[in-house]
Amino acid sequence: MLKGKKIVVGITGSIAAYKTPFLVRLLVKEGVDVRIIMTPCAKDFVTPLTLATLSQHPVIVDPFKADDGEWNNHVELGQWADAMIFAPVTANTLGKMAHGIADNFVGTAYLSAKCPVFIAPAMDLDMYAHPSTRNNIQTLRSFGNIIIEPQVGELASGLSGPGRLEEPEAILQIIKEHFSHFLDLDKKKVLITAGPTHEKIDPVRFIGNYSTGKMGFSLAIEAARRGASVTLVAGPSSLTAGHPGINRIDVESAQEMYEVCMREAPSAEIVIMAAAVSDYTCFHKSPVKLKKSSAPLVLELSATKDILSEIGKNKSRNQVIVGFALETDNEMENAGKKLISKNLDFIVLNSLNEKGAGFGLETNKISIIDHSGAVYHGELQNKGTVASEIIDFIVNNRTIQP
Ligand code: CTP
Repeated sequence: MLKGKKIVVGITGSIAAYKTPFLVRLLVKEGVDVRIIMTPCAKDFVTPLTLATLSQHPVIVDPFKADDGEWNNHVELGQWADAMIFAPVTANTLGKMAHGIADNFVGTAYLSAKCPVFIAPAMDLDMYAHPSTRNNIQTLRSFGNIIIEPQVGELASGLSGPGRLEEPEAILQIIKEHFSHFLDLDKKKVLITAGPTHEKIDPVRFIGNYSTGKMGFSLAIEAARRGASVTLVAGPSSLTAGHPGINRIDVESAQEMYEVCMREAPSAEIVIMAAAVSDYTCFHKSPVKLKKSSAPLVLELSATKDILSEIGKNKSRNQVIVGFALETDNEMENAGKKLISKNLDFIVLNSLNEKGAGFGLETNKISIIDHSGAVYHGELQNKGTVASEIIDFIVNNRTIQP
């Protein structure tokens, strides 16, 4: 599957760099044309000579001059590569990648990549858990990079916890899986909604819900990574989705989301409605801040439009429509009813009764129900993996017209 692929392997200065020659060997055995790039610090952990011998190509460390006095062209390398794998990546390089700092060849090559990029961090557990590292990982993920999370185990510091570079065999497997479904949504137009909606009470207050948008944003990034042209209609959310294949349209209320979706849905081949849309909005929105009083406050609410039902009513022949059902009781039955009443192809059931699944968490556990009543049960996994699971299900269970 990887035979003939051109892959750049980037190495940074971590003790885990001793594992990278094994990864290079596995890639070469698969028939991959491997080019190695290193940060200066990485040379202290693994020698360019070893890597040049394994890859059968000179290793690039210096951004400006190759051995023969020529400029090392990172742009050419970016155009050449079918994939870039950075392993191990230190906290320092993660931060640079997340913020576009290119003060060595690894940084310039990363910024020049036009291909899928895999990033496998390795560091001590406290560095890995630090909010700045978590933010950098979130940022890099939002750009569409594939983060290969480190394993839990004994670390060079003597401490034990998450931070160990993933094993070379497992990294190879992730790359193979990626290429097995790479570009299976090439040029498909996909409409995805995400996040909550906010229904104004007055200029400073709103009715909302706990949705953060993580699931919908993960779906948008995964679809874009597979080649789709994604329109992401996002309710208020602090998340970012920097992949160039994503056109993000921010909305606030259910009515605004309705209007954008009605405009975008007819041309979308796949619609995934992951937003937690408010079912009610304030009948009267006060133009000025409501003053408190000791009397009970009664808000009159009116129903919002059901966006998904409206899209389902107007569904065209080759369109695939996927809804989400958030349930707390009679989960399967309620989700099944929504699948039929909203004219969907599939419904993804999110149960608040599943431990590790729900608002704001990194993980989710879903079930997918199709029209025949068949149910697919997923595992508890991080939301990025769940997004890939949902998109795999859509691609494999519905023939999408070329
Ligand atoms: N949905 C929508 N427009 C609404 C409400 C919901 O498009 N006004 C969509 C959601 O994005 C989701 C699906 O409908 O894909 C089901 O949403 P959910 O909140 O689970 O169910 P509701 O239809 O709102 O019904 P209830 O709240 O009674 O469970």
